[in-house]
Amino acid sequence: MTLIQTLQLIANPTKFFDNHAKKYGDVFSLRVLGINSPPVVFFSSPQAINDCLAIPAKQLDFKKATHVFKPLFGSDSIVFQEGKSHNRQRQLLMPPFHGDRLKSYGDTICNITKDVTRNWKTGNTIFMQQVMPDITLQIILQVVFGINPGERYEKLRKLLTALLDDITKPWYSSLFFFPPLQKDLGKWSPWGNYLKRREEIDKLIYAEISERRTINHNLGEDILSLLMSARDQSGEKMTDKELRDQLVSLLLLGYETTSGVLAWLFYMIHSHSEVKEKLIQELQSLNKATSVETITQLPYLSAVCAETMRLHPIALICTPRMTIDKVEVAGEKFNSGTVLVPCIYLAHRRETTYQQPDQFIPERFLNQKFSPFEYLPFGGGYRGCIGSAFAVYEMKLILATILSQFELQLVDKKPVKPVRRGITIVPSGGVPMIVKPQ
Ligand code: HEM
Repeated sequence: MTLIQTLQLIANPTKFFDNHAKKYGDVFSLRVLGINSPPVVFFSSPQAINDCLAIPAKQLDFKKATHVFKPLFGSDSIVFQEGKSHNRQRQLLMPPFHGDRLKSYGDTICNITKDVTRNWKTGNTIFMQQVMPDITLQIILQVVFGINPGERYEKLRKLLTALLDDITKPWYSSLFFFPPLQKDLGKWSPWGNYLKRREEIDKLIYAEISERRTINHNLGEDILSLLMSARDQSGEKMTDKELRDQLVSLLLLGYETTSGVLAWLFYMIHSHSEVKEKLIQELQSLNKATSVETITQLPYLSAVCAETMRLHPIALICTPRMTIDKVEVAGEKFNSGTVLVPCIYLAHRRETTYQQPDQFIPERFLNQKFSPFEYLPFGGGYRGCIGSAFAVYEMKLILATILSQFELQLVDKKPVKPVRRGITIVPSGGVPMIVKPQ
C-alpha cells in the first residue's frame, strides 16, 4: 500500500473503501503500515462476515487493535478481556442494556432531552453536533453511573466533555497512537496534561463508588449499582479499579457514538422532505397518553433510524482481529498473523443486498428483513456492541421528543460529507439547524 493510500484511509476512509471495493471487489488485502506490517484483509460479503464472526475466540487476538485505548479505558475494561473473563463481563453488562430494563430509562431520556432543549427559541441556530453529545452524556451519567445532577455530576460533565472534545482532535489523539509520546514531563507537557485530567475524572468516579460503598444505601437500578452488587463464581466483588474501568469504557463507547448517529438522523430527515413529512405524520398520531414503549416501536421511526445507520454507519468496521491460527473465510485460507476486518460500510452498500444502495429509502426496512451479516451497524458475534438495544431505544426517544416540540430546518442546503471524529464518522459542518415557528 502506498503512503497515499494510507493517508486516504485515515483522512477520507469512506472514499478509500468505495475506491477499493470498486477496484478489487468483495475482499481486498493491504499492508496498512508498510511492507513489513501484517496483511490486513477487508471483507464485505454476508458469507465472509458470517465466517469471520464465527471464528472461535481462541483462534483470534483482539488486543493488537485495541491496545491504543488502554490509557483511556484502563486494563480491566471489557474491551481488553479475552476468553472466560470476557464472557463473564459481557454476562454482567448485557442485561441492564436489554429487554424490560430499558423501560426504566425511558422517562430519564425524555426528561434530559426536554431539559437541554428547554431554551430553544424561534430563530435560534442549533449545532446538532454540539447539543446531541450533551444529551447523550447526561443520559449515560444518570442511567449508567446513577449520578444525579449536583456538584459531582456537573464537574464530571464538564471534564468529560472537554476531554472528549480534545481526544477527537488529530494532534491530541496522536498521543494515544504513538506510545513514545506518552511521557509525563509535568502538567504542561501533552501527556502530563492528559494524565492530570484523567486523574481528576477518576477522583470523581472513585468518590462516587466509595460513597455508595460506605453509605451502603439501597443500590438503585443503574448499571454501577448492578456491577457493585455482582459477585463472580468465587464470590468476589469487583474492585474499585475494575468498576472504574468498566464505567469509563461504557461512557467513552456509548455517548459519542449515539450522538453521532443522531447528528446524521437530523441531517438525513431534514434533507429528505418526503421522509420528514411521513415521520412527522407518524409522530402526530401520538397523544399525551402514548407510552414511551409505543414511541420506540413506531414502524416508520424505526425504519428511519435503521436506514440512517445503514447508509451512514458511524463505525465503518468491526474490531480488527488477528489470527493466531490458520483460518478459512468464505472458502479462502488465511495464515496466522493476518488481520481480519469485517467492513460494515461496504456490507451496507452492496447492490446484491440493497436496491439503490446509495439512496436514503427508509421503506426498505418496512418491506424486508436483512440478516445480521448484511446489516450490522453494531458489529456482531461475541464482540458485538453490548449497548445496541439501548442506543436505538435512546435515539428514537430523543428524536421523537425533539421533533414533536420543534420545527427545524437545515441552515445549509449543501450536502455534508462524512468526516472522522475520533473513532466515529460524522457529518461535516456540525449540522447547524434553525428553529422555525411551529
Ligand atoms: C449508535 C450507537 C453505537 C454504535 C453505532 C456502536 C457500535 C459498536 C461497534 C461497531 C462495536 C464493535 C463491534 C464488533 O467488533 O463486532 C461496538 C462495541 C462495543 N460497544 Fe458500541 N456502539 C454504540 C453505542 C454503544 C453504547 C450506548 C454502549 C454502552 C453504553 C456501547 C458499548 C460497547 C462496548 C462495551 C463494546 C465492546 C464489546 C466487547 O468488546 O465485547 N456501545 N459498538
